[in-house]
Amino acid sequence: MTRLRDIRAQFLGYFEGNDHEVVASSPLVPKDDPTLLFTNAGMVQFKNVFTGAEKRANPRAVSSQKCVRAGGKHNDLDNVGYTARHHTFFEMLGNFSFGDYFKEEAIHHAWTLVTKDFALPKDRLLVTVYADDDDAAALWKKIAGLPEERIIRIATSDNFWMMGDTGPCGPCSEIFFDHGEHIPGGPPGSADEDGDRFIEIWNLVFMQFDQQADGSRRALPKPSIDTGMGLERVAAVLQGKHNNYEIDLFANLIAAGEEALKVKAQGDALASHRVIADHLRATSFLIADGVTPSNEGRGYVLRRIMRRAMRHAHILGATEPVIYTLAPVLAAEMGDAFPELNRALPVIEETLRGEEERFQRTLGRGLTLLEEAIEQLPEGAALPGETAFKLYDTYGFPLDLTQDALRAKGLSVDEAGFNTAMERQRAEARAHWQGSGDAAGDAVWFAVRDVTGSTQFLGYSELSAKGAIKAIVADGGMQESLTDGSRAELVFDRTPFYAESGGQVGDTGEIRFAGGARFVVEDVKKRAGDVFAHIGALEGGAIKTGDEAELLVDAQRRDRTRSNHSATHLMHSALRNVLGPHVAQKGSYVGPDRLRFDFSHGRALSPSDIAAIEAEVNAVVRQNDETETSESTPDEAIAKGALALFGEKYGDRVRVLTIGQKPGEPDKAYSVELCGGTHVRRTGDIALFKIVGESAVSAGVRRVEALTGEAAREYLEQQAGIAKAAADTLKVPVSELEKRLAALVDERRKLEKELSDAKTKLAMGGGGGAAPAAVETIGNLKFTGRIVEGVGGKELRSLVDAARAEMGSGIAAFVGINDGKAAIAVGVTDDLAGSAADAVALVRAGSAAIGGKGGGGRPDFAQAGGPDASKGEEALEAIRAVLAGKG
Ligand code: ALA
Repeated sequence: MTRLRDIRAQFLGYFEGNDHEVVASSPLVPKDDPTLLFTNAGMVQFKNVFTGAEKRANPRAVSSQKCVRAGGKHNDLDNVGYTARHHTFFEMLGNFSFGDYFKEEAIHHAWTLVTKDFALPKDRLLVTVYADDDDAAALWKKIAGLPEERIIRIATSDNFWMMGDTGPCGPCSEIFFDHGEHIPGGPPGSADEDGDRFIEIWNLVFMQFDQQADGSRRALPKPSIDTGMGLERVAAVLQGKHNNYEIDLFANLIAAGEEALKVKAQGDALASHRVIADHLRATSFLIADGVTPSNEGRGYVLRRIMRRAMRHAHILGATEPVIYTLAPVLAAEMGDAFPELNRALPVIEETLRGEEERFQRTLGRGLTLLEEAIEQLPEGAALPGETAFKLYDTYGFPLDLTQDALRAKGLSVDEAGFNTAMERQRAEARAHWQGSGDAAGDAVWFAVRDVTGSTQFLGYSELSAKGAIKAIVADGGMQESLTDGSRAELVFDRTPFYAESGGQVGDTGEIRFAGGARFVVEDVKKRAGDVFAHIGALEGGAIKTGDEAELLVDAQRRDRTRSNHSATHLMHSALRNVLGPHVAQKGSYVGPDRLRFDFSHGRALSPSDIAAIEAEVNAVVRQNDETETSESTPDEAIAKGALALFGEKYGDRVRVLTIGQKPGEPDKAYSVELCGGTHVRRTGDIALFKIVGESAVSAGVRRVEALTGEAAREYLEQQAGIAKAAADTLKVPVSELEKRLAALVDERRKLEKELSDAKTKLAMGGGGGAAPAAVETIGNLKFTGRIVEGVGGKELRSLVDAARAEMGSGIAAFVGINDGKAAIAVGVTDDLAGSAADAVALVRAGSAAIGGKGGGGRPDFAQAGGPDASKGEEALEAIRAVLAGKG
């Protein structure tokens, strides 16, 4: 049997042997492309190459691309587990020609690979072409010798491929494999084409257009080729299986699932096992590419996939987190081809386990609610949208999970009702998805790059340098010159200015021109990949393209930023040492003022965690070692243990930054990371490191903020100042502040208690105060009512209790006046409560008099408050009136 990994290698090898460059898969989160949720095809990373905006040295490429089709234009989530070939995650094998060869060579390669290298029998193959694509039809006849009836013309969108609503697209031609007569189904284009007999294995797209947002199509500069072959599908064909889930890779994952869940993958359990195996892959790869489960955007799609898998584990009887235990099996299967799975394994396990633990708490209860709701459904009715929303909102059930659960019973959800209930959350999610995509802006910058090339960065060693203007971008386009007072983005051939990236802010400073003009740089950003745009405004003269200038970075600000950046690396290592290897960077901000670092971790950091991290980082700072930078390929660096960001596709050469020594192991580096940022020369330049904040960003992601150098010193000085001032107020040395404060708090508690007791006593007439309250008779009921000054609501209860006890049977009402407000408490002895008199009704009558809003309690005791302290008598009168039956 040819294993999946061998088929992948065979495909890549075939095209490499035909002058194609083997390009690594890009991450699942498309870089700088807000139009796509996830990478959904091999061509995504080449989008700008097809449109001509970006050039590649080799016009031919081949890849095995990680794809996720869950959400967005291509969404297969709902079908997974129920069909033989749908996946949320799959690998797409593809060869690409960027204006090089076109239809003829593409068809030639496809046919050769499929019939010779893969040795599939010709009589089991047939192809489709777009209805009016006579060229393609003729080529299939010529190259493959296929008869007319096995070259099927399809007029629908099935044979016109589009990446999304916009982007490169074109007519396509697909190769189908005939699984044989024993399987029902007809050829493509026939009435029963949806049957399973004829299976598409390879799609050749003849890329010719760029779909615009307004619906129009622009011709691509040169006709190109994009192809896509689902690796799992072709593996099924080559392994003689009809169902993708029976190929070697899935068989191994499912066997691990059987082992973990102690349920065989057969009968009713089969679909659940398949869902778990599929979702394990999507989940693990998304996490390895930096996605974190959340309630919006990409994170929510991830959460939906995870929870769907968890429900199926629950169906199979799981009561404890279990899916995370399968992640190492996946890494063993696929980690060779995708090393990020091995690197991210602790993060994948921790994220899965955290989500499983969280969802486990509500999953069972939600399913019970759902069962109950289903029982009450009238025959044939859909589940009310409100119920689906409650499951979503309270129990964390994504809508498709509820639908998935109902599907087995042939039921559906009132989606309109659900959507109405969801509107608010939806609006938030949409707002999040506006993205920053500025297609027009991108085009301008790719055009600029054609003129300027990439910018040479001098700032690792220089803070000032001479350069010449290569391009001026203002008012949305390239300009020849710039007038005094205008805003613009300037591009130079070389620059010492750092452009924002890797969390480090862009430099600021100024650019001086010979004629006296000066451009104030407020920020620097990378455009079209590696063009440095100096953003700011011109003062004191005009400039034009070609002008020479002196570029001066604000050195102090850069120094502070450097110190924060190196400290971020040290803290990253310290976090992993103290908390564990599941700590992975989720985002960072490195500015001159402070640093901020977000990372995966399920719990708040304790004060001792923080102290340990600070101690470690400061120990490395004091080593005062020189930091070292070297260059290597990303793979080499990562193999040597350098930390890299998950989901980042690095260039061919990367900078590797090594800082400090492991305490006690002087020949081991403390921190090794891939990083293009700027750093201190010696760790001692950081001077001091202090964490000043720790908080949650979302479930499973924490944020730490910290200061270095002078900012850290100032912070500590300020803290010391606060302590000193407090100690002075208490007239003790700072060292005794804590003890003294604790004593004061204790003393205060005691005094409060004494005061309260004293007030009560006083009000009750003890201690030489006012006389005890007189008892009146209203109707045949005993009543005592009094106003007591300086007594708050809390203390009234004991007055009421004492009065009730004294009367034996009757009603007691006290109005306490304190701080300009009034409070009322009414008590009724048990023999009368609820029958002859109701404390709640009485207190309400009194409350109205003091301007209160009602009050509440029980028939034997009730309380109320109100703003009108002068109306105590009126309140008692109102209570008397109710008792007299006149209220
Ligand atoms: N981009 C084409 C597809 O995904 C090859 O089918």
